Amino acid sequence: MNKKAGILGTGSYLPKKIIDNFHFEKLMDTSDEWIKTRTGISERRVVDENETTSYLSTKAALEAMKCANLNPQEVDLIIVATATPDMIFPSTACLVQENIGAINAAAFDISVACSGFIYAMTIAKQFVENNTYKNILVIGAETLSKVLDYEDRTTAILFGDGAGAVVIGEVNEGGILSTHLGSDGKGKDFLSIPAGGSKLPASKETVENKLHTIQMSGNDVYKFAVRIMGEASLKALELANLDANSIDYLIPHQANIRIIEASAKRLKLSMDKVYVNLDKYGNMSAASVPVALDEAFKQGKINKGDNIVLVGFGGGLTWGASVINWSIQGGKYE
Ligand code: UT7
Repeated sequence: MNKKAGILGTGSYLPKKIIDNFHFEKLMDTSDEWIKTRTGISERRVVDENETTSYLSTKAALEAMKCANLNPQEVDLIIVATATPDMIFPSTACLVQENIGAINAAAFDISVACSGFIYAMTIAKQFVENNTYKNILVIGAETLSKVLDYEDRTTAILFGDGAGAVVIGEVNEGGILSTHLGSDGKGKDFLSIPAGGSKLPASKETVENKLHTIQMSGNDVYKFAVRIMGEASLKALELANLDANSIDYLIPHQANIRIIEASAKRLKLSMDKVYVNLDKYGNMSAASVPVALDEAFKQGKINKGDNIVLVGFGGGLTWGASVINWSIQGGKYE
């Protein structure tokens, strides 16, 4: 009998410090009103000086392991999806491996920007189903506040910090029914951090020109996102032999409320079947989907047997969607 991979536990961690929209009114020509109506964001979480992506990842991972009732020694692989690793290398996953004492685990990072969590989950699913590994920690984590230009009103207001994690392992019922991934490198310049790699190594000029911060063509990303979120979700449903009527709950990437509403409309879903937390956290890139998933599960919005669609898009350009038939009972968090 073939193995089926599913989610055994979820966790998340958000830094304590909250920055509301009014903070930006003091820094740049913007307003709470503009940010709320154009994006849906009211506030976001931001790390302090000593908090790193591996720190947030570790907290989220420990919560997911507790939920799955898993010891550190039982973790076989750790995958961290992030655009803001602690360092270029070693990987953030290796830092998490040490922090949690997962002495039997392999570890690596993947770089897929905001779609990273769904890509990482897809990799984990393969390893479980082909019998290579039993328990895999998949983490989406970001400290985007460290790569923002706080003089650029088109990006600074959008992003926040946080981490979400899941344990992927074998399930007897349900599980990850399908995943659909895609990319289009023609859109590479729409969303990027241009410097710090082999193309533009760090120099006085790259720092002066703020090339170590997020650069974005908001309108181009917006148009792409509105199209791809619906398309990718429908493709993942088709691969699972389901249609949009079968969706019990949608967990979309939290970039802009207008993008989320357009996606829901395309899938003919009412907004009460869609999880939204970007008002509190902004866009947390690879962390958005797993944090939303963890919160929806904790709040009892997702229950055993439900068909959940996860969908995300981001820099690359990249996108990913997955249909999961939920395998664990809600309210596990005492
Ligand atoms: O995870 C993926 C990451 N990125 C995204 O998902 C971004 C997707 N794009 C978006 O969410 C939207 O395009 C934005 C929220 C970034 C911008 O919203 P928009 O409705 O597309 O605005 P716009 O870019 O068309 O700009 C309209 C106006 C411009 O002024 P002018 O040229 O009309 O005078 C902007 O300069 O709004 C101005 N503007 C702002 N005004 C006040 C841009 N940012 C701000 C701001 N406050 N923060």
